[in-house]
Amino acid sequence: MCGIVGYIGEENIKEVLVDGLRELEYRGYDSAGIAVLQENDIQSFKAVGKLKNLEEKTKGFNPHAFGMGIGHTRWATHGKPTEINAHPHLGEFSYVVHNGIIENYQELKKELQAEGVHFLSQTDTEVIVHLFEKNYKAIGDPFKAFEATLERLEGAFAVLLMTKVDPDRIYFAKHGSPMIVGNNAKGEIFFGSSDAALIGKATEVIYLDDGDYGYTSVEEGIKLFHEGTPKALNKKPLIGDKISAQKGGFRFFMEKEIYEQSDVIVDTIMGRALDNEIQFEELDAHFFDGIDLIQICACGTSYNSGLACSYLFERQAKIRTQVEIASEFRYKEPLLDPKTLFVVISQSGETADTLEALKMAKSAGLKTLAICNVDNSSIVREADYTLLTRAGIEKGVASTKAFATQVMVMWMLSLYIAQHKKTMTPEEIATEIKAIRRIPAAVKVNTRLHEKMKRLSKRYLHGHGFFFIGRDLFYPLALEGALKLKEISYLHAEGYPAGEMKHGPIALADAELFTVALMPRTVHYDKVKSNVEELSARDATILAISPERFELCDDYVHTYHSDHPMSEFFEMMVITQLLALEVSVRLGNDVDMPRNLAKSVTVE
Ligand code: G6P
Repeated sequence: MCGIVGYIGEENIKEVLVDGLRELEYRGYDSAGIAVLQENDIQSFKAVGKLKNLEEKTKGFNPHAFGMGIGHTRWATHGKPTEINAHPHLGEFSYVVHNGIIENYQELKKELQAEGVHFLSQTDTEVIVHLFEKNYKAIGDPFKAFEATLERLEGAFAVLLMTKVDPDRIYFAKHGSPMIVGNNAKGEIFFGSSDAALIGKATEVIYLDDGDYGYTSVEEGIKLFHEGTPKALNKKPLIGDKISAQKGGFRFFMEKEIYEQSDVIVDTIMGRALDNEIQFEELDAHFFDGIDLIQICACGTSYNSGLACSYLFERQAKIRTQVEIASEFRYKEPLLDPKTLFVVISQSGETADTLEALKMAKSAGLKTLAICNVDNSSIVREADYTLLTRAGIEKGVASTKAFATQVMVMWMLSLYIAQHKKTMTPEEIATEIKAIRRIPAAVKVNTRLHEKMKRLSKRYLHGHGFFFIGRDLFYPLALEGALKLKEISYLHAEGYPAGEMKHGPIALADAELFTVALMPRTVHYDKVKSNVEELSARDATILAISPERFELCDDYVHTYHSDHPMSEFFEMMVITQLLALEVSVRLGNDVDMPRNLAKSVTVE
């Protein structure tokens, strides 16, 4: 998501910071900023858009001599991508940059505002700098004030802070978001939220652990603390090239993004799935008044996520839900009723068909909601309401973490509506929230599973086609599994409702037809099992994905998270993603940039 850099040394601080930020551009951002402290004076610059805008603004600023600085690229999650919301955020005498989400920022903000603190931005980050200054005024010791600040923060964060009251140090903390600190023989100190920003600069680095914090200065070096006590420095030599650092050591961006799903889902649910209720600060109390139908419109993977969640909207929120491919919707002369909530889903926020469908719905007077990953995109600007999915930039053309976070946002939305309409009891909502909180574990890729998928993939490189089959929610997941496979393997793959095979597709069944059967324990297990047996009796080759051992299959992938339909859904999602990835790798295809496809389709 966002990127952080920091520097203490004698080089041109501005250039070191901007160079570092450039190495983090691959993470995606919509604004950037730096702050430089020299001779007890802090200069700060921010710009919306690309780094070249920031460079333009800092043209006349050339800080040679010794000093320090912090920099940030921001991917908007709280507040629009404006200059005011860009980092660094300032108080009276301090500046801060932050990645992650401060879950209790509203509570802290109210508290500070009641004491007369004036906030400039809409961000959660700004509370950190004001809280620090308040603590400093009370305690008089910057390090103790920083410790006291960290104690109050809930959520995920990586933070760098500079303050005029202690002009030789940069304060740092890591809790749930990555942060690396490094140095070199010249005594320069560098910070980065990814080692890509430090390669070629630092020679030794410390990958901070959650709960680590401390400060650095040229005289004192790196002072690291954990739970109030000093901690030894575990320095590692920094090796590697920039591209592989950007891929986080993974072979492909898609692979990295599959592995990232556990972390980004934590971001997606943060501050939204509270203990006993779902909260969306983006929606107001009247959001759902007078609505009796949800119409979902999207393309590709986003369509599949919408179709999956239509089951949840009907089942949990008891609201009629229709789902349509945007390019079809546009030209069908649809009958639109103002009592409909029109929901568009888009990773990029720029897909032409989805955008046009949204404009049609808006001009027909419908209330519109965008589920989107990119703030300030065309779709976000057009929609009445937006729920950001918080997946961070997705580079692989085959969408993975965007799909996962879309499903998560809509699952929470269906519970939010259920709360409002009282179609579920508070106990039922609380049970769902517990299930939501277990999803990051269900999507975590374990090495054994990945190794198994690597081995298994070699048996699925030929044949005359794949059927992915499932029922209920697992039918859209079958569609998505088939889409992933065909996008990057170029093999023919279709998703089908398992119960529909007998109405035609089963005619194709023979040993060269590969069936990937999604067989969850919690949703119609026996019915899917019968459908798979019918295929097996016709000699189709079956790959069963299930928590239950299934005798009649050729290959079997065991799943473990079977306490709730959605944990089965998410675990199986990861397995189908890994299958597509490994088949594509074996076929020697370009996994991240498959032929004929584009990440964002801005034409009809
Ligand atoms: C393209 C991409 C797909 C994506 C679809 C919709 O076809 O290759 O991965 O699902 O567009 O994109 P959106 O950005 O609207 O979700």
